[in-house]
Amino acid sequence: MKRTLDSLEGQPLEGERAWVRVDFNVPLRDGSVADTTRIVASLPTIRWLKDRGCRVILASHLGRPKGQRKPEYSLRPVVPVLERELGAPVRFLEDPVSEAAPQETRRLKRGEVMLLENTRYYPGEEQNDPALAEAFARLGDFYVNDAFGSAHRAHASTEGIAHLLKPAVAGFLMARELEFLLGALAEPARPFVAVLGGAKISGKIDVIEALLPRVDAILIGGAMACTFFAAQGLETGKSLVEPDRIDMAKELLERGGEKLVLPEGVTIARELSPDAEIKDVRPDEIGPDWAVYDIDENASDQFIKRIRNAKTVFWNGPMGVFETPPFDAGTVAVARGLAVATEQGATTIIGGGDSAAAIAQAGLADRVSHVSTGGGASLELLEGKQLPGVAALDDV
Ligand code: 3PG
Repeated sequence: MKRTLDSLEGQPLEGERAWVRVDFNVPLRDGSVADTTRIVASLPTIRWLKDRGCRVILASHLGRPKGQRKPEYSLRPVVPVLERELGAPVRFLEDPVSEAAPQETRRLKRGEVMLLENTRYYPGEEQNDPALAEAFARLGDFYVNDAFGSAHRAHASTEGIAHLLKPAVAGFLMARELEFLLGALAEPARPFVAVLGGAKISGKIDVIEALLPRVDAILIGGAMACTFFAAQGLETGKSLVEPDRIDMAKELLERGGEKLVLPEGVTIARELSPDAEIKDVRPDEIGPDWAVYDIDENASDQFIKRIRNAKTVFWNGPMGVFETPPFDAGTVAVARGLAVATEQGATTIIGGGDSAAAIAQAGLADRVSHVSTGGGASLELLEGKQLPGVAALDDV
């Protein structure tokens, strides 16, 4: 168990500089933040610290600028979003490792917030360079990690610094993510059903392996299902198949037995276009010129039945190309199934990334138990891996 922000209640925090690692790796469009979910998710931690008179220093990466100061990866567009949400000005620190930087943080008033420029502008960040971690640490008096989405990275701002600034505690978002993804899934109420989708099985093999012994069923959708169809010797036409994973898929089918559930029907088209002619067919009816872009209605019903009977559901990866209607139908149907299961008392958890975007697009994000802000991090946690950003925090 890791120490959380709650454990600091009652301590003299006023005037202390809270160094808070957040995950503001948000999508930008035309220089503005296109999706504020991750920013909003960190507000409880930021507000709690502000209310106790801390000087709040926020740090995050954005994208993968690979140690270079590339303007398109600047965190500056986050400032107006934070100012709007907090109803207070937010300072921006261009160069967090400059000599003047520590003094800048001390100049903040109590309860004021400062956002640091992209931690990945410095090559030492991804190398977990102790010198960079030390430079970062000069800007704070204690450490809070609320960046669940980055907790699987052992970087200077997520791991190195946690050994230098004490106490080092989990923020509220981090604590909630761990509660759902470790707590609820460690001893799940049964039946426990996982729904996995997305384009490729290559990124999901470890999670399938880890889940198989723990779940009652894994429902497979998305283009990923096509590699399993190929493993069954079926024609997959122009569908996305990973030829080098077919043997692995065969092996998983054998090992998984009845637990591994493939869709009974798929929606196919000759091209990925909203106006394309579409057909709903059985997996053994996919023609050579056609490609699978979604699960069909029969498969949606098949999956929804399982989901509604479940007491715990974990979902990662869309069922089809949900960005291009009508190929969003299977994903939306599954999202609705999860909402119904939640109403009936099931614990339903969405594992970040595309499925989080899909459930938001379906307008159902607040009708499931938990939508994780971490894609890669939530999968690594399910695979049973230790997250370095969590491991480095103080134990209770
Ligand atoms: C994410 O968006 O999954 C996290 O912010 C981690 O980003 P990364 O994959 O570039 O490390």
